[in-house]
Amino acid sequence: MKNGNTKAPQPLKLDSSLQHRGELLATVSDKIGCGTYRFEVTGRTQLESQIRNGLNPWDKFLDIGCGAFCGGYWTMHFLNAGCYHGLEPNVDMFKGGLNYILEPDLLELKQPKFDHNDQYDFSVFNTRFDFMFAQSIWTHAGKKDIEKMLDGFVKFSNDKARFLTTVKLPDMFHKDYKGDEWVGGSHQSDVKGTVRHSFKWIKEACAKRGLSVKRLPGEKINTQHLILIQKP
Ligand SMILES: C[S@@+](CC[C@H](N)C(=O)[O-])C[C@H]1O[C@@H](n2cnc3c(N)ncnc32)[C@H](O)[C@@H]1O
Repeated sequence: MKNGNTKAPQPLKLDSSLQHRGELLATVSDKIGCGTYRFEVTGRTQLESQIRNGLNPWDKFLDIGCGAFCGGYWTMHFLNAGCYHGLEPNVDMFKGGLNYILEPDLLELKQPKFDHNDQYDFSVFNTRFDFMFAQSIWTHAGKKDIEKMLDGFVKFSNDKARFLTTVKLPDMFHKDYKGDEWVGGSHQSDVKGTVRHSFKWIKEACAKRGLSVKRLPGEKINTQHLILIQKP
């Protein structure tokens, strides 16, 4: 929480907009996952793209790096009980989401499951997923971690599963990222930043695992492009 601020959360006003809730959370926490300015729009856009790309209410869904539920809020409301799974190693950010973003009875109603490991270990949920989602994760992670996520997708999802993720692609001014370290805010770092991975490399990494990948022209969440990965 901000500057070691441990004051009790203000009661959540159930009729306040998600934008207001995000802004309130930003008054006590430096880390809210997505930016404050477009908190509500960024979350709504996530659910829109998930639905456009085949998400069903009954799908077992994994939100990799769910942060403070900027998008998870909407997805959790959409999905049937027991379907939402959130992975988030930054426990402070996660708790901020519980206190400021999700309505208290939502957890009881939707029975979401959470884990806080930072190894992209999806086995902890003991589930075969229908839909995996990573918003603003591949734009911070190194290639080794992306490969772990792809391996997890192969191993812990159904044959018809989808993996929807946002990316930033290299261009004249931004190079393909060769490092292994996470770049940007996380449970271990306060330094801001993003990374890019070439679509050629992504395609090869998917092909190695028998996966197909396609770009989704025109589909974006803020400045990040969406790609869709599937089993053959
Ligand atoms: C830019 S934020 C995006 C949060 C969320 N997806 C959203 O759109 O609001 C990146 C998130 O990835 C999380 N993260 C960092 N390392 C991670 C890891 N090893 N496994 C899963 N999530 C991680 C961060 O704590 C942070 O919540």
